[in-house]
Amino acid sequence: MSTKYLIIVLIITLGLFFFSSALSKVYADTGVKTPSAIMLANTCAGCHGVNGSSFGPSSPTIAGMSKAYFIETMEAYQSGERPSTIMTRIAKGYSKKEIELMADFFSKQAIVRHTQTYDAKAVKLGNKLHKKYCKKCHEDNGASANDDAGILAGQWQPFLRFTMEDYTSGKRPMLEKKQERVKKIFEEHGQTGIDALIQFYGSQK
Ligand code: HEC
Ligand code: HEC
Repeated sequence: MSTKYLIIVLIITLGLFFFSSALSKVYADTGVKTPSAIMLANTCAGCHGVNGSSFGPSSPTIAGMSKAYFIETMEAYQSGERPSTIMTRIAKGYSKKEIELMADFFSKQAIVRHTQTYDAKAVKLGNKLHKKYCKKCHEDNGASANDDAGILAGQWQPFLRFTMEDYTSGKRPMLEKKQERVKKIFEEHGQTGIDALIQFYGSQK
């Protein structure tokens, strides 16, 4: 082995050492201990943003989602129980362990809400309907990240629209209690009521 070769190997080894210690500092800053969680999450960044807050409009923000709901969602995509355009295919590529790591990572990220356009009158009606029909399970104007449901406050309106369409068309199963409430909204306001709710959640900062 030539000296030149040895020197190159030494430089590479040192370089790798400094690179990995720099990376572990980055990981320490984000509060996540295992590097693989960040590496896994990076594969989602193109659509969901670096820390899970997406630039929209159809890819939802996933930052701050509860761990339990994140895992449940990924499993529902894997099994096809929850309809999707692309997530079933993506979710199938990850193991249970990897999904748990990502759930841990995204649940710790603060959600960044972007300004969306909405109609003030619609938001007012949406607020009323939310209090009457949705608040019970989606607390804090939809900002609560509880274990059974996602964050609606500040979520991208096109995503909320597709999701509500999946529910009302029966493609995605809906809790019976919720089904009754959504039916009432349709009876009282038609699609205008659903649109108002979507704008109400989209208007939350
Ligand atoms: C090519 C773009 C793309 C990539 C890459 C992607 N997603 Fe998605 N994701 C979407 C879209 C679009 C939806 C809405 C459902 C659908 O149509 O597939 C979604 C929905 C979701 C949801 C549901 C959010 C909610 O509020 O219900 C979760 C959770 C999620 N993705 C996690 C991930 C994770 C984790 C990764 C990386 C392993 C990832 N996604 C990679 C586009 C993407
Ligand atoms: C009885 C409890 C309950 C009520 C009432 C309720 N929801 Fe939900 N909602 C849930 C649960 C649980 C989920 C999680 C997914 C599922 O089971 O469908 C959810 C999920 C959602 C989602 C998808 C979030 C995501 O990220 O995937 C939207 C949108 C939504 N609800 C809107 C509404 C609206 C609008 C109302 C009022 C008309 C409402 N919900 C009333 C329990 C409820």
